[in-house]
Amino acid sequence: LPPGFTQVTAGDLPELEAAIGPDTAAVMVETTQGEGGVVPLSTDYLRGVRDLCDAQDILLIVDDVQAGVGRTGTWFSWQQLGFEPDIATTAKALANGLPVGVAMARGEVATAFESGDHATTFGGGPVVCRAALTVLDEIEEYGLLSNVAERSEQFREALGHLDGVVNVRGRGLLLAAVLDDTRALDVVERSLELGLIVNAVRPDAVRFAPPLNISEEETAQAVSVFEKALG
Ligand SMILES: Cc1ncc(COP(=O)(O)O)c(C=O)c1O
Repeated sequence: LPPGFTQVTAGDLPELEAAIGPDTAAVMVETTQGEGGVVPLSTDYLRGVRDLCDAQDILLIVDDVQAGVGRTGTWFSWQQLGFEPDIATTAKALANGLPVGVAMARGEVATAFESGDHATTFGGGPVVCRAALTVLDEIEEYGLLSNVAERSEQFREALGHLDGVVNVRGRGLLLAAVLDDTRALDVVERSLELGLIVNAVRPDAVRFAPPLNISEEETAQAVSVFEKALG
């Protein structure tokens, strides 16, 4: 994180409230923590953060770098959670691998930006912007948001029945299989050997973040490979 942030325990509203002081400008959250272990924050907590920010007259920023652009089944993660941020960021999937990220703002906050305030040498380049627009068109054209919801259910159901998996958490196609033991690294290594790309976000949690256009058959195949990797 850039300097100036104070980290608080996710999901603990009183702790957040206590950390807000007269110099606090904003609160920044991921709605589902990605690198933090694929931990979805509850809607009650997130709406509580929104209310707290309103009451204290500070801004709410959502870091949707990982969870945005359809990854959780809506264009942006907060759209299924009953609140709106003032500022949001997104990046990873936006141009399907080409390097582009965006910061978005609404209302009065948006008017605080002037041309040149947020400049970088390659920022807003035509090639990446064209790629990003094409990604958005393709997500729409191929109905990938509903595919995310359907494949998410399929993954949850199938992973949840595997021996060695005690829980499946996350939203959309940002999921983690929580294992019965701290053996995620070994299981990931074995999965990679068998051709399945997953990663260990916690000693006991393996992240699944497949392409949004994964098919029903590919999902079944991924789970079957994972079952072998679990031994
Ligand atoms: C949730 C989240 N925010 C921010 C970042 C950093 O993004 P960037 O590498 O585009 O600065 C990452 C990178 O993994 C991330 O997962």
